[in-house]
Amino acid sequence: MEQQDVEPERPSAARVYDYYLGGSHNFAVDRAMAEQAIRILPELPANMRANRAFLRRAVRYMTAAGVRQFLDLGSGIPTVGNVHEVALGESRDARVVYVDVDSVAVAHSQSILEHVPEATIVQADVTEPDTVLAQAASRLDFDRPIGVLMVALLHFVPDDPRGLIVRYRDAVVPGSYLAISHGTADQQGERGAKMEALYSRSASPLVSRDRATIEGFFAGFELIEPGVVFVPRWRPDPDALPATLPPERTATYAGLGRVR
Ligand SMILES: C[S@@+](CC[C@H](N)C(=O)[O-])C[C@H]1O[C@@H](n2cnc3c(N)ncnc32)[C@H](O)[C@@H]1O
Repeated sequence: MEQQDVEPERPSAARVYDYYLGGSHNFAVDRAMAEQAIRILPELPANMRANRAFLRRAVRYMTAAGVRQFLDLGSGIPTVGNVHEVALGESRDARVVYVDVDSVAVAHSQSILEHVPEATIVQADVTEPDTVLAQAASRLDFDRPIGVLMVALLHFVPDDPRGLIVRYRDAVVPGSYLAISHGTADQQGERGAKMEALYSRSASPLVSRDRATIEGFFAGFELIEPGVVFVPRWRPDPDALPATLPPERTATYAGLGRVR
């Protein structure tokens, strides 16, 4: 399947997420954890698709605003509708740098990007912004706007990520953007605590945050309407089918900020 030939002992967020999305880049430990998570939150696979749909809408919004370069932090195992596919579909001069720490995500990204000169993958830890930015600088022009994506990433960063966000914000010019989606326990009852407990046994503990905290991550940005909302409510496509589940069941907030 991939570069690792030994079954890992602990599930990884990237491979569990791949399973939710119907991918095949996961091991038995990942599938077992994903099934447990689905028992807690039965709509998880639909929620992850809603998260991916937010990513695509955010990239299209930024492309329409003139952004041609994207830095996708915690990009994951590639699936349909990747950032470069959406961005290149909107503009042939788009450029994308993907960043992930997970070796399966990186190996699979390398193979699908082999013949895509406009996009590349860097294996790095996003909590080491100097390393990430130095690598990205060889592919992206930091004198022009960049769309930075932290989609379904920051709930895997246990320490307060505000300093990290400021570091990335200060590296890009005004007119750049930051897209965030983030898991929450808001309105989830006991399901939120159960999910955190489950992920605490994985290689990627999960930290839920509330809406006000996530909105605070956009300090210094112009927050684009409608602000930080449950993912299906973030600028839904006018021709999208009506959501079959109440938006709060996604347990995920999303927002987009523009660097002033
Ligand atoms: C749930 S997936 C999200 C993938 C993609 N952004 C999306 O929304 O579809 C989270 C990804 O973040 C990656 N990740 C978690 N912590 C990271 C870190 N400190 N540095 C780089 N990647 C990280 C994981 O490996 C995983 O691939």
